Order: sequence, then C-alpha cells, then structure tokens
Amino acid sequence: MNEVYEKLLKCYDCFKNKIDFKPDVAVVLGSGLGNFAKTVDVVSELPYSEIEGFPVSTVPGHAGKFIFGYIDKVPVVLMQGRVHYYEGYPITDVILPARLMKMMGAEILFLTNASGGIDPRFHAGSLMLIKDHISCFAPNPLIGPNIDELGTRFPDMSHVYDEGLQDVIRNTAKENDIELFEGVYAQLTGPSFESPAEIKMLQTLGANAVGMSTVVEAIAANHMGMKICGVSCVSNLAAGMNSAPLTHEEVQEAANAVAPKFELLLKESIKKFVNLCR
Ligand code: HPA
Repeated sequence: MNEVYEKLLKCYDCFKNKIDFKPDVAVVLGSGLGNFAKTVDVVSELPYSEIEGFPVSTVPGHAGKFIFGYIDKVPVVLMQGRVHYYEGYPITDVILPARLMKMMGAEILFLTNASGGIDPRFHAGSLMLIKDHISCFAPNPLIGPNIDELGTRFPDMSHVYDEGLQDVIRNTAKENDIELFEGVYAQLTGPSFESPAEIKMLQTLGANAVGMSTVVEAIAANHMGMKICGVSCVSNLAAGMNSAPLTHEEVQEAANAVAPKFELLLKESIKKFVNLCR
C-alpha cells in the first residue's frame, strides 16, 4: 500500500482507539488563536504526541493537540498547533492532520493563519477572508502516487474556498462590526521572511497577503472534497512596506492583539455553519 496512506490510516486507528467523537467542522488555529479553545465546550483532547507517527511542531507557540468539543450545537475538532514545511517535515506530513480530520468526519475545514500584508489597504491587525491562493512557491502536497481512496489525480482548484462559507463569514463580520478585507493568500516555504523584491513580485502576481502555511492544507482538503474557508490575520506589513525589520515576536504580538476580534468572527461564523453541515 502507498506509504503515505498507510501512515494516515495508522494515525486514524490511533485516533479511533482513543477518541469517540465525530466533528462536523475542523478548525486549524494559527498564531494568536491558542486561547480559542476556551470558547469551546471541550469534550476531549488528544495531544499529537500520543498519535503514533503524527508530526509534532517545533515552533515556539505551536505546541500541539487536537481539541474536540462543541461550539453551540456544532461538533468541532480544533488543531491547536500545526507543523510547517520549513520545519523539515515531508510535505505529506504537513498535510496529514488535515486529511486525518476529514477521516474523523469533518466536512468543513476552517483554516486560519498569520500573514504579511501586501495589499496597501492592510495594516497590522487587519483580517482577510481568503478568496483564492497562490500555491506554486510551495511543493504540491499531492505529488507522488495518487491516493485514489482520498481523491482524484488531477483535482479541480477553481473553487477551493467555498462561496457559501465565505458568505457566512462576510455576514458575520458585518453583524459584529468587524472590518474584513478579502484577497488572495500566497504560501511561500519560509522560514526566512520574504525580500522586498519578492514582495513586489507577489504583488504583481495578485497576492494580497503572504505566509508560510494554509495553501498546502487547502489543496489536500480540496482533493478529499472538503468545504474549505480561511481567514488570515495580517500580523505585519510585508517586507519593504515599512522600514522596520520583521521578527517572529512582532508577528506573535500582533496576532495576540487581534485575537479577541478574530475569535469572535471564528466562533460566530462556525455557529452558523450548523445549517451547512449534514
Ligand atoms: N511573511 C511570511 N509569513 C508571515 C509573515 C510575513 O511577513 N507574517 C506572518 N507570517
């Protein structure tokens, strides 16, 4: 059997043996959203370290576990901490958690992250609804023998971010007086931040924000037929857009500062997903 699939099935078995819970919505919590679990009626937790073969993050602030519970009536699984390609994991490990959450039963995937703002309208703390992505600077996670049990060899990518979910998030932002920009998110591998010339290039290509995650997860989830949505927290202006050098601490601080607004948007949107789940 395909090794990547075999590993996934092993992780799924491990989950099944420890947790009896079927989520409808899977949420990947990006930088600054570590406290989001407090808004959930938690039923159980599963540290990544207890899942054999599961990739465990090395980034400070990304320590990892799955959290299972309810947001209002919606059964959710939260990923508190994700792994990034720049940590040295094979790309198939980076997207394994997204695949696993679909196997747990989640039909909807809500992706969040922190990003550098390229769009001149953005400032540190802006929130951006992801309408589309640019993936070609990161390895495609579907490279290798296709796992036919998960999806087709050449998946369509023209509607990765579900229009219905986008409408819910947009309306929720409006109702709660939260400014929500919209745009295209580009994933680069990192871990170095971009150079000013790279940011100019990305701007020319039509990117509004740049980061080091999310797109590969969206590709893998789309391959499996999940409904996907994403919101990015612009934690800083991208390189060259102001004179100060970028630091990881600055990214985390800004993401923490915007967290209450981001958490509200996330929670209130997910409540409304109840009508979209089966
Ligand atoms: N570039 C890439 N990734 C990021 C940035 C950035 O400026 N900010 C937060 N994640």
